[in-house]
Amino acid sequence: MRAALVPTYGSPDTLVLAERQTPEPGPRELRVRVHASPVTQGDRRIRAGDFPGIMATLGRLLVGWSGPRAAVPGSMFAGVVDAVGAEVTGFAPGDRVFGASMDGAHAEYLVIDHTKAVAHMPEGASFAEAAAVCFGTSTALPFLRDLGEVKPGQRVLVIGAAGGVGRYAVQVARHLGARVTGVCRREQVELVRALGADDVIAREDADWRVSDAQWDVIFDTSDHFVFAEARPRLTAHGRFLTLGLASWSGIWDLLRSAWSSGKKARWTVVMDEQSNVEAVAGLLETGAIRPVVGPRFPLAQLAEAHRVLEARNTEGDVIIDVIAPRPREVAATA
Ligand SMILES: NC(=O)c1ccc[n+]([C@@H]2O[C@H](COP(=O)([O-])OP(=O)(O)OC[C@H]3O[C@@H](n4cnc5c(N)ncnc54)[C@H](OP(=O)(O)O)[C@@H]3O)[C@@H](O)[C@H]2O)c1
Repeated sequence: MRAALVPTYGSPDTLVLAERQTPEPGPRELRVRVHASPVTQGDRRIRAGDFPGIMATLGRLLVGWSGPRAAVPGSMFAGVVDAVGAEVTGFAPGDRVFGASMDGAHAEYLVIDHTKAVAHMPEGASFAEAAAVCFGTSTALPFLRDLGEVKPGQRVLVIGAAGGVGRYAVQVARHLGARVTGVCRREQVELVRALGADDVIAREDADWRVSDAQWDVIFDTSDHFVFAEARPRLTAHGRFLTLGLASWSGIWDLLRSAWSSGKKARWTVVMDEQSNVEAVAGLLETGAIRPVVGPRFPLAQLAEAHRVLEARNTEGDVIIDVIAPRPREVAATA
């Protein structure tokens, strides 16, 4: 099979395409013919060895010291089951599935345990759409629903509302019944409004930290803000959720606020679980979230896709079409 390889940490030029042995599914695994896979900030971090602050050493210990331990990159996929192991239940060859595999998705085939983060795609969703929603929604949902405990009628601020996680966080918060304010660049205001934000702050025009408003949940997807900046803008029992934890002071905030009955800082690393992907499928099926498919590239242009992600001037998820989509599908998601 054709697969991308990332032999060492570095720029997008380190990515190469190679022939690899097609993986055979073990007894508990299904093999997926990958049709589409996004390039996410997580993929970029692993390619670049970009683990910020106090995560620098831990990140390399976990992912690989001089280069990623998993040679084939790509953490999210959508495709068709083409073989199953003897003990697999719930999936059969021909099923359209999507999910999170940690690595191996930027290849023609991957194998995944049938109890891990894989679920059936909703009827009617294209491979690109399923691939697009998985990363952002499977992150936003546990953050807002479980850490933030967002309730109907609450006010939620999403910082980085047009980003990979943010554009789904806006939609998930709305789905949970919140009134949503998004913070984004001026040119992204219309997108964020179209995703369902009730109010949008263009960050060139106003600073949310000096606004008069208060929010029950402030979700920082930008990795730029700390609890101390959010505190004055939180309601009495409000929660500050952050995707990144790069400093000792951030850890101190988590520990200190864990014992406080008032405002809290919360962080986690989202673990890829099947129930989470099934929940994403449900949200996609009911139209509670809509995919924001951005530029699309064939697998051979994975390096270019990483450059486009890094340039930060596109709206939507950068998608690798491992199998060229049919013209009708491209038109539907364009
Ligand atoms: N903890 C977890 O389990 C978990 C899960 C998934 C992702 N992550 C991490 O979360 C981070 C975000 O991922 P992502 O895919 O959402 O990244 P992303 O697409 O780069 O989104 C970040 C957003 O924040 C915006 N931003 C940057 N600086 C800002 C500022 N000063 N004020 C307001 N907004 C600002 C960016 O805008 P511009 O485009 O203008 O820069 C962008 O829209 C990454 O570091 C990723 O590794 C963590």
